[in-house]
Amino acid sequence: MTDQMPAATSNDTVLVLGATGKTGRRVAARLRLRGTPVRAASRSGRTRFDWSDPGGWDAALRGVAAVYVVPPPVPGPMHEFVVRAGAAGVRHLVLLSGRGADSWGDSTFGLEMRSAEEAVRGSALGWTILRSSNFDQNFDEDLFHAPLVAGELALPAGAVPEPFIDVEDVADVADTVLADPAPHTGLIHELTGPRALTFAEAVDLIARASGRPLTYRQISPADYVGTLTATGWPEPAARHVAEMFTLLDSGLLAEPTPTVATLLGRPPRTFEEYALRTAANGTWHR
Ligand SMILES: NC(=O)c1ccc[n+]([C@@H]2O[C@H](COP(=O)([O-])OP(=O)(O)OC[C@H]3O[C@@H](n4cnc5c(N)ncnc54)[C@H](OP(=O)(O)O)[C@@H]3O)[C@@H](O)[C@H]2O)c1
Repeated sequence: MTDQMPAATSNDTVLVLGATGKTGRRVAARLRLRGTPVRAASRSGRTRFDWSDPGGWDAALRGVAAVYVVPPPVPGPMHEFVVRAGAAGVRHLVLLSGRGADSWGDSTFGLEMRSAEEAVRGSALGWTILRSSNFDQNFDEDLFHAPLVAGELALPAGAVPEPFIDVEDVADVADTVLADPAPHTGLIHELTGPRALTFAEAVDLIARASGRPLTYRQISPADYVGTLTATGWPEPAARHVAEMFTLLDSGLLAEPTPTVATLLGRPPRTFEEYALRTAANGTWHR
């Protein structure tokens, strides 16, 4: 099954946004495997889609039945997007969001996810929201990879454990919802892994699986902001990430949910499985 270009129409085509990212490319692969026409979109994707360029959205949405949405990087654009999606005849939106998004209070973390949720929940389209805990893959495909390769991950993570989830499970859930959206319409699924681990325990499991002497070091949120800005992060973005650790420290998001097992009919993948599979690729040696 090849990807659908915007000129093509099929009444079951799924537009996958963020299709080059951690969840989007796995969702797209699952859809292709079961023969669903996929339009894989992002700024560098096969179908060009840029949240900051609404002029290109209608072409991406033409002939699409459902959309997997990785939220825009800033609050706002999703409101216009749901209007355009409705006008294009889209029937269902599956939005990725963060665990417990309506319990984040006056934290400045995740304003873009909360704005996207507000737009989706206020729309007349069918929708499902997948609110996910921190991904296992943050340790090899995202922010925590480079520090681990250098031998030490220093975070303001505290002692509160996090129920890390394998992105393969997030993609399995998205695929399940997209295959048959009706039973999931208007639902928010809170997705976690099977057990909560501290960041120090997660690093220890990666160290053991990879055979490298990796360490975890506790630092203050202010020091973490300093670490990120020293590597070129703009200060507001660095504060945004540090704010997430303050939220996790509240303990409100630490408890695993049974949702993945309920939706998929099997337990979620463990962090140990993730660490073994990923260590075998040599990821933490380079
Ligand atoms: N990491 C976690 O633990 C976690 C947990 C829960 C929720 N989330 C949320 O998940 C989202 C990220 O999802 P992900 O991890 O699957 O993606 P990701 O790996 O962070 O990749 C981002 C994707 O979005 C695309 N993108 C970036 N800027 C864009 C723009 N201006 N216009 C269009 N596309 C753009 C990128 O492709 P191009 O560069 O080609 O455009 C890429 O495909 C964030 O909203 C995050 O808050 C993350």
